[in-house]
Amino acid sequence: MNRRSFIHYTQQGLTKAGTLWLASLGNFGLTALGASVNSSTNFDGKLKVDKTNAKLSYVAQETDWKIIEGISTKIWSFNKNNFAMPIIAEVNSNIDVRVKNLINKQSIGIHWHGIRLPNNMDGVPGLTQPPIGFNDSFRYKYSSPDAGTFWYHTHSNSLEQLRRGLIGPLIIKESKNYPVDEDIIIMMNDWLLNRNGQLPKNPSQFTNQHFMSHDGMLGNVITVNGKVNPSLVISPHSRLRLRFINGATTRIFAPEISTALNPYVIAYDGNPVPVRKYQKVTLAPGMRMDVIVDIKGNLSNTAQRIYDNSYSLPIDLFTLKTTGNPIRKNVLKERPPQLPKNPIPKPNLNRAKKYRLELGGGAMSPGMMMGMFSGLFWALNGERMGEDHNYNKPLFSFKRNESVLLELHNNTSFAHPIHMHGYIFWIMSINGNKLKEPLATDTIYLNPDQNADIAVVMDNPGKWMIHCHIIDHQVSGMMGIFEVV
Ligand code: C2O
Ligand code: CU
Repeated sequence: MNRRSFIHYTQQGLTKAGTLWLASLGNFGLTALGASVNSSTNFDGKLKVDKTNAKLSYVAQETDWKIIEGISTKIWSFNKNNFAMPIIAEVNSNIDVRVKNLINKQSIGIHWHGIRLPNNMDGVPGLTQPPIGFNDSFRYKYSSPDAGTFWYHTHSNSLEQLRRGLIGPLIIKESKNYPVDEDIIIMMNDWLLNRNGQLPKNPSQFTNQHFMSHDGMLGNVITVNGKVNPSLVISPHSRLRLRFINGATTRIFAPEISTALNPYVIAYDGNPVPVRKYQKVTLAPGMRMDVIVDIKGNLSNTAQRIYDNSYSLPIDLFTLKTTGNPIRKNVLKERPPQLPKNPIPKPNLNRAKKYRLELGGGAMSPGMMMGMFSGLFWALNGERMGEDHNYNKPLFSFKRNESVLLELHNNTSFAHPIHMHGYIFWIMSINGNKLKEPLATDTIYLNPDQNADIAVVMDNPGKWMIHCHIIDHQVSGMMGIFEVV
């Protein structure tokens, strides 16, 4: 068995274990509690992208949220009795979020994933700002030069805090409204719930050495916008923009969207791409995509399910249903238009200096034994940074405005979504194959043994994080910083 087929084997093995667990919860654990894990909840109207709400007061706190109808789960949230409230702002307009921390014995910081903002607003405690301790506050003020689908999450004790719910969508609207009837957020994540429908009391249950050194530990209840398989009720013949966000710590999603909905992709990771027919896209933690769908007829009898198909067992994400009269006589036939480009600087490739970033470690690697002792299984260029956030010296020191070509090498037996703070970079080539059109992103998903060249203009000064967004990996070594001076 070669390395690759072994990987397949392990991934399948873990998946099977995960889904069996889900099945046992769904069919035994939860129904035993009298909960129906059906498409019964409707989407909250707040998850429609319409009015902006860019001046906010957040309080991080423990609160109740019904992930499963009929069961109150204690989660952590920035809003009482709510989960993952979206922040919606116009491009280049002021965003002003004051956050107070009322979570006992935790310090927090909010990172605005994918936003090109000043370093002191990036939300990494100990690196870009002081930690927001219990009863402390911090005010985030910034604007985004880029429109698109982004998200926010804490950046402290990340595995526990993200898994308990300290996340949310961040939508930056284009200055000119994109023509759809409904603009909807689809924030996917999963929860690790016990048979009483509660998250583990002991944070050590969120992962362990085995999972950290492999693909990470999955949750067992999948939700969209915090609900199990919610229904989205819309008018027949409407055109929708669906903004998928993978807000999970570990789980990979690959939404399956029926061709009956004529789906088109218009953006990846917040950034516009040439409009094209949707084919199943793998979204690793932190990644996003915007998809346009058209609702042909009446879906009242034939509800359209959108399901995840990234592991061996398809799992429902949400269900589309129609109600009322058609919004127009016929379903729209024309191809969805192109989104306006974001103003991301283009690197000068002739002058670009070359750097190399090697992803190393994990199970089946030579350094495995060392990881076993330190809890740090993964490394970037041989350096392992832990969650204690005693930040190592920078992996790279770039000159401000320098054009950089960074060669990424995944020398591990696992896939990793690598996220860079403060920047949107261009994927130029994968495994030596040039992309027809460079792809702008903040997170690149690298398969085992895959290489990629990314290019970026280092125009945003400061010390920034670069790390794997599978949080089990992030907290066990696959994290580093780079500086731009
Ligand atoms: Cu979305 Cu450092 O992360
Ligand atoms: Cu990783």
